[in-house]
Amino acid sequence: MQNWKSLVVLFLLWRQIIAENIQNPLNNEGKQLYSSSNAGLLKLLQLEQRFMENIKIYTNKLTEKVKNLQAFIDSVDYRANETFEDREKYVSNPLNAFSLLRRTHEDLPKWHNYTQQMVGMEELYALEEIAVKAPDEEDMNYSLQGMHRLEKIYGLEATDLARGRIQDRKYDVKMSARDCFALGEHKYQKEDYQRASMWFRMALKHKPEENAKLVNEILGDMKDKLRKHYAASIIIFGLVKSDPTLTIAKSRAIAFEALGKATLTDLKTLITELLKQSDEEIVREMNINGTAPSDYELGCRGLLPKRKNLYCSYDSSTTPFLRIAPTKQEIISLDPYIVMHHEVLYNNEIAELKLHAQNKIKVTNENRMKIDSLRRRMINRITDITGVGFQITHELHMPDYDLKSYYKPNRDYAYWGGPKVTLLFFASDVEGGATVFTKSKVSVFPRKGSSLFWYNLLDDGTPDRRSVQAECPVLKGNKWVFTKWIKEINSQCTHRTKS
Ligand SMILES: *[C@@H]1O[C@H](CO)[C@@H](O)[C@H](O)[C@H]1NC(C)=O
Ligand SMILES: *[C@@H]1O[C@H](CO)[C@@H](O)[C@H](O)[C@H]1NC(C)=O
Ligand SMILES: *[C@@H]1O[C@H](CO)[C@@H](O)[C@H](O)[C@H]1NC(C)=O
Ligand SMILES: *[C@@H]1O[C@H](CO)[C@@H](O)[C@H](O)[C@H]1NC(C)=O
Repeated sequence: MQNWKSLVVLFLLWRQIIAENIQNPLNNEGKQLYSSSNAGLLKLLQLEQRFMENIKIYTNKLTEKVKNLQAFIDSVDYRANETFEDREKYVSNPLNAFSLLRRTHEDLPKWHNYTQQMVGMEELYALEEIAVKAPDEEDMNYSLQGMHRLEKIYGLEATDLARGRIQDRKYDVKMSARDCFALGEHKYQKEDYQRASMWFRMALKHKPEENAKLVNEILGDMKDKLRKHYAASIIIFGLVKSDPTLTIAKSRAIAFEALGKATLTDLKTLITELLKQSDEEIVREMNINGTAPSDYELGCRGLLPKRKNLYCSYDSSTTPFLRIAPTKQEIISLDPYIVMHHEVLYNNEIAELKLHAQNKIKVTNENRMKIDSLRRRMINRITDITGVGFQITHELHMPDYDLKSYYKPNRDYAYWGGPKVTLLFFASDVEGGATVFTKSKVSVFPRKGSSLFWYNLLDDGTPDRRSVQAECPVLKGNKWVFTKWIKEINSQCTHRTKS
């Protein structure tokens, strides 16, 4: 037995990625991206809603002014005197002459004044203020990158996504032609010509937008670029597929040369032919001899082979407490030892911790005592479950995941010199978002109220490569996780000395 093992030296490392307030993770320059968290996306939704509200009020005010001007026109009942005789007859009448003079002297400047008055200045200022807060290119890139990761990791097809289908579920979401085009362009830039072509295909399949002429004037017309890039990506993909010795650069050169010679009619004919094929057919053809998914991707999809001879049991042996209140434990893997405990966090506790993590609880002594007592309860429970005790600290590691985020706890590994044990607490149910132990080929899907426990180090203190893990992006929902890194543990209390 090594020396340290006889000591009960416990360091609990709670790390708080998002200090104080869970807001969007920061980028390199400390700027907050909308696209990197649900909190950020909610802000963005609010921004868009405010923009639309202001546009509506502005439009109403413009309509009001148009109505007023129309009323003025109607009230004057103006008719132009067409012939010279008409005009002369009109002005030769002294009553007309007076009226004309009065109208043009008194009323005309005032109506002029009225037309000059800016309508909806307040809203125009508001719109300007909102517009400068719109997401920038970096945010857009992050979002595109997130979509790309989802598609790749889960093997999702543009033909499904564009129609609101994510894996086996159908959502009431339809992506616009411009959405599809932007995704295609991103993949085109990244030289993923297969996925690019599928998104371009979906963009081309859209009916023309309503008011296409007007919309194109304001948003730009993507039609020419869309056709060219669709044809180019199909040709490049086909060339590389049929002759794997061809480099991308060479294939691109060939494709552009061919497209340079083609007329618009040629291009349209090619596209019409391609669109005649069914989506299923083209998806199947494109995926023939594609690259096989990695273990990580298989893990995220829940497709790694199931481990045999593992069991689910009620643990009532670790500590005296468990003899009274056994926990449901599920051994995920014996070697390395990875175990999941179910029903260890209660819904009311999760709700309280979330509020706290989001800074939605007023800082008062009473509230601080409440949360401290909750932490103590949690920590006692963890001690009971794992046989490991640790200090109470005031920080929570609780990042706010969004649909696309992708978080690699191993990043922090080197920084901390390697925690001995990692404990994850799942505080929400989501789709996707598995934790994959790539070397051990097991994956664990989050379950609200459950915890996951594994060792990062071997007995000699060197990293256990089998416990290298990575998180999968979330397909739907908010992933809430508490993470604890325990630097050193009292091994007498763990399963290792029990056996
Ligand atoms: C000439 O124009 C005035 C003012 O617009 C109108 O009141 C008048 O009836 C017109 N005269 C004829 C003969 O149309
Ligand atoms: C124009 O309208 C504004 C606002 O009603 C008023 O304050 C101003 O005196 C007007 N100017 C003229 C030349 O009538
Ligand atoms: C966004 O991505 C594009 C293409 O990948 C790149 O050229 C551009 O520099 C990126 N912009 C920012 C701000 O990261
Ligand atoms: C797929 O790969 C097999 C074996 O490498 C090869 O014989 C076949 O021609 C390929 N099919 C296509 C469509 O590239």
